Amino acid sequence: MYTPSQFPPTSVSVDLNALAQNLAQVRRLAPRSEVLAVVKANAYGHGALEVTRTLQRLAVHRFGVATVDEGIALRQADIHDAILVMGPTAPAQFPDLIAHRLTPVLYRADMVQAFAAAVLPDAAPYSVHVKIETGMGRLGILPHEMPNLIAMPAFRATLRLEGLMTHLADADNTETTHTEKQLAEFQQTLDTLHQSGRSCPLTHAANSAGIIKYPASLYSLVRPGIMLYGYHTLSNAAATPELTPILSWKAMIAHLHNIQAGDSVSYNRTFIAARRSKIAVLPVGYADGYNRLLSNRGMVLIGGRRVPVVGRVCMDMTMVDVTDVPGVHIGQEAILVGQQGQERITAADLATWQQTIPYEVLCAIGQRVSRHYLPLLSDNKTSSQNP
Ligand SMILES: Cc1ncc(COP(=O)(O)O)c(C=O)c1O
Repeated sequence: MYTPSQFPPTSVSVDLNALAQNLAQVRRLAPRSEVLAVVKANAYGHGALEVTRTLQRLAVHRFGVATVDEGIALRQADIHDAILVMGPTAPAQFPDLIAHRLTPVLYRADMVQAFAAAVLPDAAPYSVHVKIETGMGRLGILPHEMPNLIAMPAFRATLRLEGLMTHLADADNTETTHTEKQLAEFQQTLDTLHQSGRSCPLTHAANSAGIIKYPASLYSLVRPGIMLYGYHTLSNAAATPELTPILSWKAMIAHLHNIQAGDSVSYNRTFIAARRSKIAVLPVGYADGYNRLLSNRGMVLIGGRRVPVVGRVCMDMTMVDVTDVPGVHIGQEAILVGQQGQERITAADLATWQQTIPYEVLCAIGQRVSRHYLPLLSDNKTSSQNP
């Protein structure tokens, strides 16, 4: 088996205490809702197993993944709690999904037929969630289709409606009309269900932005993702909770060299030195998730100072201008995301420089970047169990 080297050239550190603090913020804002923690995409790049195990210790017992394979990976790591597969699934995957006791999200009548057919005939009713399309334009049945879907003979005979859910498309926007319309449609769908004499133990609509901004989106379950990892994408004007980014990312200076005014750095010579300069080579590149759009645009922290990325980010290396850093040396730490002295760079800063959102920056951090974890202190464990 592959064992990571003891001195990885680039590595990520995840503070599990900060994860506990962010979870406490979720519980403060949604005190009456159970938490389903979204750990898809390797827990947004932070490491699904470590994040899930930590959240279990903090009394979270529902998890959301995007794919059947992500759910199976958690089961194979002895995670026995409820796992909701929130992304699209195909009939060919249903036997595996059922064998690993994952919970599907159903969003089409033919899918109900196929899923019910995959459940063993004499098995107990299999719990499923049904997704309602209220304005995301992605997965879900329309609100008026819900009564007929759950009245299908295949549904009634084989499945148990454990959850009804919708997903908010625009809750982080300053404009509230679309979200209010989505929440009203979802509520009407739930009213229709109750009027028909049916019930459903879990109802859920809120992602992180919903939890922060829309009390009306707080049903029996909430589905936070990004806020557990310490970010949100609401405008600065919105009242936002104190969240702590839980991930920092560093690389060790691998090489230093001096260049003259007029010399160039990296592919296609997009950086030409205006002065005699000292250039540090960092062993991290776009194959590690350090995006090529950071070329001549990103900054890193070295010796407590912000220094610019110069030239094109390469697949495995990135160059930075360290001319103004006193005592700079090979092996010195460069912070790509995190704090050094008084300076700080966040995944939101990288997102601005590469014109995306912090989600993508975090999810893109590659497999070959080794991940280390600051363990949970026991006082965090107790405080978060008692929201
Ligand atoms: C269905 C669903 N619920 C919840 C989330 C969590 O969203 P966020 O990370 O914005 O909290 C996601 C993530 O995209 C999702 O797809």
